[in-house]
Amino acid sequence: MLRIGMLTSGGDCQALNAAMRGVVKGLEHCGQDLEFYGFFDGYKGLIYSDYRLLTPRDFSGILTKGGTILGTSRQPFKLMRVPDENGLDKVEAMKQTYYKLNLNCLVILGGNGTQKTANLLREEGLNIIHLPKTIDNDIWGTDITFGFQSALNIATDTIDYIHTTAASHNRVFIVEIMGHKVGWLPLHAGIAGGADIVLIPEIPYDIDKVIEAIDKRTQQGKGFTILAVAEGAISREDAELSKKERKDKAKKNKYPSVSYEVAALVEERTGREVRVTVPGHMQRGGSPCPYDRVLCTRLGASAAKAILEGDFGYMIGMVNGETKRVPLQDVAGKLKVVDPKCQLIQEAKQIGICFGD
Ligand code: F6P
Repeated sequence: MLRIGMLTSGGDCQALNAAMRGVVKGLEHCGQDLEFYGFFDGYKGLIYSDYRLLTPRDFSGILTKGGTILGTSRQPFKLMRVPDENGLDKVEAMKQTYYKLNLNCLVILGGNGTQKTANLLREEGLNIIHLPKTIDNDIWGTDITFGFQSALNIATDTIDYIHTTAASHNRVFIVEIMGHKVGWLPLHAGIAGGADIVLIPEIPYDIDKVIEAIDKRTQQGKGFTILAVAEGAISREDAELSKKERKDKAKKNKYPSVSYEVAALVEERTGREVRVTVPGHMQRGGSPCPYDRVLCTRLGASAAKAILEGDFGYMIGMVNGETKRVPLQDVAGKLKVVDPKCQLIQEAKQIGICFGD
């Protein structure tokens, strides 16, 4: 008998169900009896023993279903060692649930924070497999995370839609794209959507350069300009501040996000009409794109293989087109950021995209 626990934690994405299905289908024909325990709402379910015994049938027909059939929540890693409001030791409680159910392993789907807790549970002696989920694509040790391509499709569609209306009205348009503190999603969506200016956290922007690029387009007779701005984009001045100074400044900031701040400056300095579009959580919604369905099926099947071999303590990543068991202790806590000198940025600059530097 194999008893496998599963949970999805952190922000959701389109392909979580596809990945869980991949794991279950990869185990289905192993010849052993199988029990799947689904923990609800991420680590919360494991801490408070909120779970349901699931059968392979529960994972059938969910390849195309967005969200997560298990639900999810954010349980910050830094609070894992802090007792809850009733004094409960969360780590101990998670271990108790695991041992009570006599689990062989726990499959944990999530991003960076989730991965850190997965590694903590590994250190505590539990058998863990982590699957790298996030639309931000910022997990170290894997070339790609699931959710990224699906979100990229939506972010790109948004820029495409904005293009037509921007052209009709001769306006400057800012499309704010998710990605947390990294620029993978806005960078790729900006290039795919033909944005003229792309601002990402890894390249702090100089507003003068942004204005220059807009003016240049205007002088060339191009009536509209599209900016793809990362939600985490940062100006050169702000990048030089300490973390605390930045926090204090943010408290006084009257703008809801960086895009509105850039919009106000552009409007003031160019006299142009500027509009901001924020697709927000739409980028995490809907069904997974075909790329993610394939990726999740491969990662899930590969996780199933590791489970059958009793080989635990890994993230199943995708490296150079191959699934790979990446030791959790080598990657937990590391962030994969865009290298401002990478070929992709150089090529984007070559075709005239301005990064505000
Ligand atoms: O990590 C995924 C992500 O969508 C980020 O891109 C974004 O910054 C964040 O989650 C939003 O979090 P929440 O869903 O908690 O508002």
